[in-house]
Amino acid sequence: MSAAEPARGVVRDFVIAIDGPAASGKSSTARRVAERLGIHHADSGVLYRAATLARQRAGGAPPWPEDSVLGATREVTFVLSPGETSWAVRVKGSSVDDELHSPVVSGLVSHVAQMPRVRSWVNEQMRWFAARGPLVVDGRDMGTAVFPDARLKIFLDAHPTVRARRRSLQQLDRLPSVEELAAETERLTRRDEKDATQTRRAPDAIVIDTTHLTQDEQVAQIAALAKGVR
Ligand code: CDP
Repeated sequence: MSAAEPARGVVRDFVIAIDGPAASGKSSTARRVAERLGIHHADSGVLYRAATLARQRAGGAPPWPEDSVLGATREVTFVLSPGETSWAVRVKGSSVDDELHSPVVSGLVSHVAQMPRVRSWVNEQMRWFAARGPLVVDGRDMGTAVFPDARLKIFLDAHPTVRARRRSLQQLDRLPSVEELAAETERLTRRDEKDATQTRRAPDAIVIDTTHLTQDEQVAQIAALAKGVR
């Protein structure tokens, strides 16, 4: 399904926006909150990653002209498979879930995310998802630039080393060595710096520091807050 069609008669009746820095657990938390509430989920970071992957596959070394990235977004489509909670992306019709989080895409995505017309493309798709029903969204600027009227806004944060440990565990499927942890902390900190201009905390967002929380605890906290505003 393509999200290119205009979102006519948009009723953004129920959006929960979860923002935060790299590897703060936004996406996994957002997906689980959506599952608990029985609503859908869309991850804006995945759209920036898909645009990056589609452009990278077209060849040529970065930095890429914005027009060429925008052209590559034509290869990106969206699916909500039966029984699934989260909108997934396809590039040229194929599932690309593993590649989206590769070191190459993670290293290039902040460059692509700084392009204003790519940001508009992502924001338009996110609004299109929201026009289809209650939605949990996650990213960097969901509660500010995209859904300033979201019913509930959360800003998730955690100490950089804790974020790096969680991301390494996810990617390596084992505990990282001291060197691997240091390298991942460095990569995340560098990406946070590049993303600083588009990472905005809404003044009315509830900040949750997850440094000492388990994922179950943070999901339960947000789901409880969400039920309170429904
Ligand atoms: O999972 P992680 O937090 O590492 O990143 P992500 O949510 O998958 O986002 C990947 C990249 O997309 C970020 O590093 C930002 O450059 C960009 N992004 C953004 O600029 N605005 C958003 N709303 C979401 C992501």
